[in-house]
Amino acid sequence: MILYFSATGNTEATAKKLAALLDDECLNLLDRIQKNDFREIASEKPFVICAPIYVCEMPRFLAAFLRQLPLTGNRDVYFVFTSGGYTGIGGVLAKSIITKKGMNFKGYTELKMPRNYIANNTYPELTEEEIRRRIEVCSETIPHIAETIRTGGILTYRYVWMFERIITVPFNPVWCRIRQSVKPFRVNDKCISCGKCAKLCPLNLISMNDGKPVWNGKSCSHCMSCIQNCPVEAIDYGNITQEKKRYLYKKYGK
Ligand SMILES: Cc1cc2nc3c(=O)[nH]c(=O)nc-3n(C[C@H](O)[C@H](O)[C@H](O)COP(=O)(O)O)c2cc1C
Ligand code: SF4
Ligand code: SF4
Repeated sequence: MILYFSATGNTEATAKKLAALLDDECLNLLDRIQKNDFREIASEKPFVICAPIYVCEMPRFLAAFLRQLPLTGNRDVYFVFTSGGYTGIGGVLAKSIITKKGMNFKGYTELKMPRNYIANNTYPELTEEEIRRRIEVCSETIPHIAETIRTGGILTYRYVWMFERIITVPFNPVWCRIRQSVKPFRVNDKCISCGKCAKLCPLNLISMNDGKPVWNGKSCSHCMSCIQNCPVEAIDYGNITQEKKRYLYKKYGK
């Protein structure tokens, strides 16, 4: 069983490709996360959890959800991360969640995909050519990942150094609270009141008021689902995103 969360499609495409190659089921966890739906998920085949990387780890809301989610049947669990090139402590965290469930952690791997974090100016925008190149390389790698899983092998990626854990574990919650504020989100007159942004928010932070989205709460996961999926590009994050091209996997890859 392939389980995934995806905001802009990189992880979704990966999960669906793996499911097709492994002749397995694929389940989008968004609805369950939004509803805090912890009904057990059973699978005869190994579990493969696909997730993006946010600030050097898997999305914190996904980690919290997985901790509580009962997984029954097959005891083996693989993780496949999509990232902009650095998974940080994602694998270590995944191992700890799975081991605490009494299941077998069968390793993790990372696919370096186009970066979708437009509400952050740390990295320069990728060229169209680089976006397409990354997607192509990942498409060629996915069958090898599927083969390792199909044959019961271990996914090996890289060693996570102690200093990475020492920095990430205490620093991330603080950084996320401060830097991932919802305050700068704003909507302009292009909004057609479709409600898509509200439907897609994994944290249910967006409500519709007089046909326009309102962001509630203080901070969010910055998954970029609302801003990137708006069909008319009516959402901005302060003035960081105004000149930036919106990214969705489906604009580039199959
Ligand atoms: C809030 C946020 C933080 C991110 N942090 C990292 C990171 O630490 N390292 C990295 O390589 N990519 C990072 N990325 C890029 C995403 O992991 C990458 O684009 C991913 O493939 C997006 O998956 P999706 O299209 O399935 O949502 C970040 C993206 C977001 C939105
Ligand atoms: S997705 Fe865009 S158009 Fe639709 S309600 Fe949200 S801001 Fe408005
Ligand atoms: S408000 Fe937007 S960026 Fe923040 S968690 Fe919700 S969908 Fe993601």
